Amino acid sequence: MQNMKKVIVSAPGKLMLLGEHAVVYNRPCIVTAVDQRMSATLEILESTEFSLEAPDVKITGYKKPLKDLGKGEIPKGAKFVELAVLNFYKKYKIKSGIKITTTSAFAATFGFGSSSASTVCVIKGLSSLFAPKLSNKNLFDLSYKTVLDVQGKGSGFDVAAAIYGGTLYFVTGGKAIKPLAIKNLPLIVGYSGVKADTVTLINQVLTLAKKYPKFIKNTYDQMGILVELARKAMVTNDWQTVGELMNIDQGLLSALGVSGQKLEDMIFAARMSGAYGAKLSGAGGGDCMIAIVPQNSKQSVAKAIETAGVTCMDVKVNAEGARVEK
Ligand code: MEV
Repeated sequence: MQNMKKVIVSAPGKLMLLGEHAVVYNRPCIVTAVDQRMSATLEILESTEFSLEAPDVKITGYKKPLKDLGKGEIPKGAKFVELAVLNFYKKYKIKSGIKITTTSAFAATFGFGSSSASTVCVIKGLSSLFAPKLSNKNLFDLSYKTVLDVQGKGSGFDVAAAIYGGTLYFVTGGKAIKPLAIKNLPLIVGYSGVKADTVTLINQVLTLAKKYPKFIKNTYDQMGILVELARKAMVTNDWQTVGELMNIDQGLLSALGVSGQKLEDMIFAARMSGAYGAKLSGAGGGDCMIAIVPQNSKQSVAKAIETAGVTCMDVKVNAEGARVEK
């Protein structure tokens, strides 16, 4: 069954454009893949051991027998990779030892989705090493299961971005994964320097939803409407409208309680220096904000964001999805 001994796979990170939080509850979102890639090298071992090197998340010399996969105390940085191997091995009845080394072109703190991208790299790598070949949908299903096994919650939009790349219209759990034909997205990304934890923020919104169920349901519906409008505006390059829709979405995210002082400072700085629109991107609480910017305001907006926040990053969006490098 084995046809090669070693493979290197890479997958892009992601940025949520619109629809975060609502997408956890059966609404759509729009996500773009960023060309800051996660990569994994997978080598078949003679022994029946699982070995992991992931220096970016402080995992070195991590080893265990295959029979103990998923058991015992698993360090945070090893969870996604270990459970990805466990899920693949169980499904395809693989018994070979495996060594995995992951490296990232971006810091795990940015919220670009390093855990999902590494999960995708591992499962795609395993499918290259041990037939059968997986379709993108099979790859999505197994990777999404792994993410849910580890964190219990999430829509899977980050997994889809890592696999398919480009800019996607996505509905919870992969009910819809539709590429959008967008050439250039005039986007600027600012990093707040504040680390956010997705599951904590999802739970925080859930508490609010239990107290004000009707209001939160309506807010999710409104967010869904914004996504549908933005989808149309994006494919016609109507960036002014996209910016406007992002501003409205930011207002709703703020109503959900997931914005923050630093994010708001950066968002207002961007708007006041010429952006069409700006909002937080992802779970909120920290991580990144994004702004849609006319070409002639790029520099002033970048400078304003940097002054209000920590850094402004030059990221290429609409990046290629997961691929075997060699
Ligand atoms: C987190 O980046 C975005 C959320 O919508 C969670 C998810 O969709 O998995 C809050």
